[in-house]
Amino acid sequence: MAHTVKGIVLAGGTGSRLFPLTRVTNKHLLPVGRKPMIFHPIEKLIEAGVQDILIVTGTEHMGAVVGLLGSGKDYGCRFTYKVQDEAGGIAQALGLARNFVGSDRMCVILGDNIFEDPITDAVRDFSEAPAGSTRLMLKPVDDPQRFGVATVEGDRITRIVEKPKEPESNLAVIGVYMYDNGVFDVISTLRPSGRGELEISDVNQHYVEQGMVSYSVLSGWWTDAGTFESLAQANRLVGE
Ligand code: DAU
Repeated sequence: MAHTVKGIVLAGGTGSRLFPLTRVTNKHLLPVGRKPMIFHPIEKLIEAGVQDILIVTGTEHMGAVVGLLGSGKDYGCRFTYKVQDEAGGIAQALGLARNFVGSDRMCVILGDNIFEDPITDAVRDFSEAPAGSTRLMLKPVDDPQRFGVATVEGDRITRIVEKPKEPESNLAVIGVYMYDNGVFDVISTLRPSGRGELEISDVNQHYVEQGMVSYSVLSGWWTDAGTFESLAQANRLVGE
C-alpha cells in the first residue's frame, strides 16, 4: 500500500553565518537564481507530487514567509506554518511537525539545500517501503567535515557522524530525509549536542543502528547555501 507523503521545509535557525545579510530577513528568502531560496526545495516537493507542505521558521520572519508563500493556491499545494521559538536544531524543528504528519509519512528538506536531481522516484519508493524505513541521500564532497558524513559498505550505511574532524568518507548526508511518524518518538529521546542542538545526524544514526536506512547517491549537483561561499555557489549552479 502506498502511504501519503507530506512535505516539511525547515527554514528556521539564525542564519548567523550570513550576517549582515540575515539581520533583517530570513536566510531562506535571500535570492538564489531568480527566486527566493525557499522556492527551490518547495518546487522539488511539488514536482514529486507532494501536496501538503509544512513550513517551519522562527518568530522574527514568519510574517514575511507567509506573505511570500500564502496558502499555496498559487503553487498547486497547501502550506501549513509552524513557529520554532528558538533555533534548537534541525531535529527539534522537525519535532514540531508531529500533529501535521499524523499517521502519514514525510519528506523533510532543509530550506537551504539546493540541488539538481528530482526526488520523485525516491518519494514514490519511500511511500511503499516497510514501516520504520528511512531514506537518505548522499553526495561526495570536497569538504565533508562541514556536514553529516556517512560511512557505507555496499548498499548499507554503517555510521553517520555530524561534522567529524576526521571524516571516514567524503559522502555528505544531504538535507533531504524521509521518515515515517515513528521519527517523533526517536526525536523525543535525543539530548542536545555539544553545539546545544538536537541533531538530525543522531536521528539518522539511530535508524542506521536499527538497519532501517536505504540511500541513494545524487548524480546531479548539490549545495547548501548557508555561507557566503555556498550561497554564491548555489547562485552559480542555478544560473547554469
Ligand atoms: O546541508 C546539509 C547539512 O545540514 C547536513 O549534512 C548536516 O548533517 C546537518 O546538520 C545540516 O548542517 P548545518 O550545520 O549546515 O545546518 P544549519 O544549522 O545550517 O541548518 C540547516 C537548515 O536547517 C537551515 O537552513 C534551516 C533549518 N534549521 C536549522 C536549525 C539549527 C531549522 O529550521 N531550525 C534550526 O534550529
